[in-house]
Amino acid sequence: MNRTSSPQEAPWTVARILDWTVQHLKQHGSETPRLDAEILLAHARHCPRIQLYVSYHDLVTDTERAAMRELVRRRARAEPVAYLVGHREFFGLDLHVSADVLIPRPETETLVLELLDLARSLPNPTILDVGTGSGCIAAAAAANLARAHVTAIDISPPALVVARENAARLGLADRIDFLEGDLVAPVPPGKQFDFIVSNPPYVADCEMESLPPDVRNHEPHLALRAGADGLSIITRLIAAVPPLVRTGGGLLLEIAPEQAAAVRAQLQSSGCFVAVKTLKDGAGSERVVRALRASP
Ligand SMILES: C[S@@+](CC[C@H](N)C(=O)[O-])C[C@H]1O[C@@H](n2cnc3c(N)ncnc32)[C@H](O)[C@@H]1O
Repeated sequence: MNRTSSPQEAPWTVARILDWTVQHLKQHGSETPRLDAEILLAHARHCPRIQLYVSYHDLVTDTERAAMRELVRRRARAEPVAYLVGHREFFGLDLHVSADVLIPRPETETLVLELLDLARSLPNPTILDVGTGSGCIAAAAAANLARAHVTAIDISPPALVVARENAARLGLADRIDFLEGDLVAPVPPGKQFDFIVSNPPYVADCEMESLPPDVRNHEPHLALRAGADGLSIITRLIAAVPPLVRTGGGLLLEIAPEQAAAVRAQLQSSGCFVAVKTLKDGAGSERVVRALRASP
């Protein structure tokens, strides 16, 4: 995408810029070059992505090309598209994201679906989201359970800024409280919830190096890394939550598929949970473990 084109050269139309960008991003290792190119060009042109399909022959202005050039340069260095455009869709909600938060993943929608299934029968469900990040789980729960109240905790102050902003933009701020601190430590003494949910950090130290560069070099390690076996946060959480969950309520945890058996065993041996079950994500991988609180 040169700065100028000679008189003989084809003009820089939407179609030509997309084709050029797809080739360039492919060479730089993107696994989704066409999707990336379309999202970035729509962002540079301030238009919905679908608009590109009816604008293939339109000329792209110099300003738009300059913006696109910069976006493509950064994407070629494996910066995630969601950080470049500043938002990501999750469970039908448009969420603001920055490099201070993990980019919400489709796998996490499995946890939300199970939470909604369990909580729908309660008149006023109370939910605690530990490690809220962008606030995606908290926001999806509040948006889909009109009478729910959500408390969302994160240890990262800049992540909480993003989560609060998302709750406000989505009109959910009056039903989500945000607290800063380590796991459940900020919960006021004696307070209990119907459901505690968490997509905690669960990447083992030794696996950090093998993560794709988009993740390893750009997403917050605080959101990913969890000790030698990737279970350090989950183990602390399982030990800490029983007094905070009402009988009949439950705990839902996102996990890495290879952790499923160990997490189920921890929940069963705690003596505090029954009906321990693993759920698969859309790709068929074991992704969520959920358990119901036994009577104390
Ligand atoms: C995997 S991210 C999940 C973010 C979001 N819930 C999602 O599903 O996209 C984990 C989050 O846990 C937070 N976190 C890490 N350690 C924590 C701790 N000890 N206490 C509370 N939050 C923690 C991180 O800052 C990060 O936002």
